[in-house]
Amino acid sequence: MPLAFDRLLRPNLKKFKPYQPGTSVDEVTRRYGIERPVKLSQNENPLGTSPRALAALRSIESLSDYVEDDHAALRTRLARAYGLGRDNVVVGHGSNELLALVFSAFVDPGDAIVIAKPTFSLFRKDADVAAARTIEVPCRDGVHDLAAMLAAVTPETKVVFICDPNNPTGTRVERDALFAFADALRDDVLLVIDQAYREFMDADAADGVDILRRRPATLVLRTASKIYGLASIRFGYGYASPEIAGFLNRVRLPFNVARPAAVAVLAALDDDEFVARSIASNNAGKAQLMSGFARLGLHAYPSAANFVSVAVSVAADTAYLALLERGVVVRSGDGLGMPGRLRVTIGTSQENAAFLEALETLVAVWGEPVEAAR
Ligand SMILES: Cc1ncc(COP(=O)(O)O)c(C=O)c1O
Repeated sequence: MPLAFDRLLRPNLKKFKPYQPGTSVDEVTRRYGIERPVKLSQNENPLGTSPRALAALRSIESLSDYVEDDHAALRTRLARAYGLGRDNVVVGHGSNELLALVFSAFVDPGDAIVIAKPTFSLFRKDADVAAARTIEVPCRDGVHDLAAMLAAVTPETKVVFICDPNNPTGTRVERDALFAFADALRDDVLLVIDQAYREFMDADAADGVDILRRRPATLVLRTASKIYGLASIRFGYGYASPEIAGFLNRVRLPFNVARPAAVAVLAALDDDEFVARSIASNNAGKAQLMSGFARLGLHAYPSAANFVSVAVSVAADTAYLALLERGVVVRSGDGLGMPGRLRVTIGTSQENAAFLEALETLVAVWGEPVEAAR
């Protein structure tokens, strides 16, 4: 008997597509028989995982008990970095979970959210699940158009998402412009500043927490996935007013952060050596890729993150597949709202060199873009 989906399924999910993660190494090996592909598709840390986090994980002797659910020590440690209190911190199963909690706590069906286009795809996906309306405001040269985003706010708007640096373009918004935007935004609208790549930014970039200090209806999201190389442990955190953090805490699942995650992250937060090495490697890799793109005549947006978006003269999916066949996995901009571009994670110098070499042979066949796609 077929399932009665017509009655069962929520109407807004009928045309719903699943989240598309980047291609995994296993998939490349299975489909193309390439044993050790160069994987530059998921913006992970090419240096691996914080050694301090790994050592802390090895020291765990038992996982039999439920953890203390409020993660007091970890939240206190995260708060200390900014001179905030533990009540200003909310922790989650990746910052992805915290995004979902924003919708559970604040967004009803028919409410609106405002986001950039292109930006991180989960904002829209979570809005679709919540049956909320998504207002997309085109970027200018890959950068959030803050004036247009402000103009797109209506009485129905509940949340505005700023992704800084922006995934998939890699660009950042200017500090003063973001402050002015935050000051002008109605104070009954939640401003979510997703700074998953914050640690890779230059010192003069905006810190979302400085905005939180002057605008309480703000949530700043961070993650252990990138800078600490802990993507698979699933840990993200947010800074907010005690009230906003409290509401997010109320709607989350109990024990949403596993003990291994809490133990690993607490250790990683003191791994200054790994953080410094990761930032240095990223800066060197960025320079390597940018000079390679310049040599090949390819336009790339200036990146503030650990990935770069580069324009190609063929369809992005075509370029993605051609690179895949040469053992290099990047992300096609076609599925990311960024046609004509590839999103490439900054890897080790060897990985970047292998990617540039493959790209160079392909560009010789494709030709340079007639006009850089923006
Ligand atoms: C903008 C942005 N936010 C959040 C995440 C995911 O963070 P987490 O692994 O903490 O869920 C990513 C990962 O790619 C991202 O690009």
